[in-house]
Amino acid sequence: MKYNNIREEELKNKVGADWFKQFDTTEILGNIDFTVFPQQDNLFGRTPLLWAEAKTGNFDVPTMFVQLILTIGKARTFDKTMPPAFLGAFDFKKIAFVPYINIQDIFYINDFNWNVTPSNHETKEFQLIKQRIEATLNQNTYVFDYQKDEKELQAFIKNNVAKATTTSKLKIDKNNFIPIYLRWLDIVKPIIDVNWADLKKANILDSDFYLADLFVDDKDTQTIGDDLSIRENLFVMFQNEGYKIAKENLKQMFDANITLKNKDTYLHFWKRYKRPPLKEFQDYIIERRDLLVPQDIRERKGAFFTPRIWVELSQKYLTDYLGENWQDDYYIWDCAAGTGNLLAGLTNKYNIYASTLDQADVNVMHERIDHGANLLKNNVFQFDFLNDDFCKHLNSQNFAIFFRQNLKNYLLLQRILLIM
Ligand SMILES: C[S@@+](CC[C@H](N)C(=O)[O-])C[C@H]1O[C@@H](n2cnc3c(N)ncnc32)[C@H](O)[C@@H]1O
Repeated sequence: MKYNNIREEELKNKVGADWFKQFDTTEILGNIDFTVFPQQDNLFGRTPLLWAEAKTGNFDVPTMFVQLILTIGKARTFDKTMPPAFLGAFDFKKIAFVPYINIQDIFYINDFNWNVTPSNHETKEFQLIKQRIEATLNQNTYVFDYQKDEKELQAFIKNNVAKATTTSKLKIDKNNFIPIYLRWLDIVKPIIDVNWADLKKANILDSDFYLADLFVDDKDTQTIGDDLSIRENLFVMFQNEGYKIAKENLKQMFDANITLKNKDTYLHFWKRYKRPPLKEFQDYIIERRDLLVPQDIRERKGAFFTPRIWVELSQKYLTDYLGENWQDDYYIWDCAAGTGNLLAGLTNKYNIYASTLDQADVNVMHERIDHGANLLKNNVFQFDFLNDDFCKHLNSQNFAIFFRQNLKNYLLLQRILLIM
């Protein structure tokens, strides 16, 4: 055996020196045994190539991968830093690789206790991950014996690991859309040809451009010429290799068309991610766009997401207080609705009105209605309840009529609920 009778530290050093000498293998990342980075940062910073588990002895490959997956899942390393192109596992005889994108889904399992000790192979969590992942590993793992497969291993490292970042695309999910945004701020934001200060006055933020970029169908090609927005109601839309902001959103006569100063930089950034985000997380990302709003703006506007448990509790309290039929007996107006989470689960859409400060949030609500949210589009509108004149500035026809005809009466009869 090539690396017989040596300790784990020595094994890691030797594997680094023998196989990965053209890379940087010195970086330590949490409890992950072994990492491989390119020697030189590229335009986009340090792109990790490999995170691996090291074991002395002769180990079963899936067992080593499960330990690595538990180590990563426990520390949620992928939330803090870009995940690598490959996960790896090696012992004194062999080394195995699996593309990260093939196993990424394991980190989405629900109701799983990631807090177990990864090196304890007896836990039920260890067995569960092993059962779930074994078939995927069998299909996608490349295993090399250091001695018997020496040439193949060298070729694999040269052709796949070294070039990995240009071939595999990372899926976008609820865990990584914020770290990707932080990189996007560094790389893509500066090449968007706009005056950010002016846009801010119109309540348009860089996160609106990021969402426009995320919700694009990349058609599985490396060019951006065929990229197409998949959501119609976004505040800012990707269009014609640039962006469009509809005139209504800017309160001006014409749509604004915004160009990219450097399309190559844009293309290089996005070719590492598969767009749009995974389907099961698309609504979540739209719902949690508040996380992309800078803290100072969030605090000023009170833009904080209402977690589902508080939404449910608020509805329970209303039922306790007003009786089972409160949704039919009352009109409900959420006048600081944000993206409308507080209204989730309400049943009588004819009695619900929602308004909020930012048109971008209104667009999100309209978009959610298109995707099945139980609200009426005409009842959802932009309105500043502190400053707007109730009668003059109401955008919503429905609401204006409703307001004129009913509000006074209902207020008198105490049959309208204002919620915020
Ligand atoms: C606490 S958040 C609402 C959260 C919402 N329930 C949710 O979970 O998405 C308060 C919202 O009120 C909006 N807001 C702040 N000032 C406002 C104003 N003067 N008129 C209307 N909406 C306002 C903010 O933009 C923010 O989205």
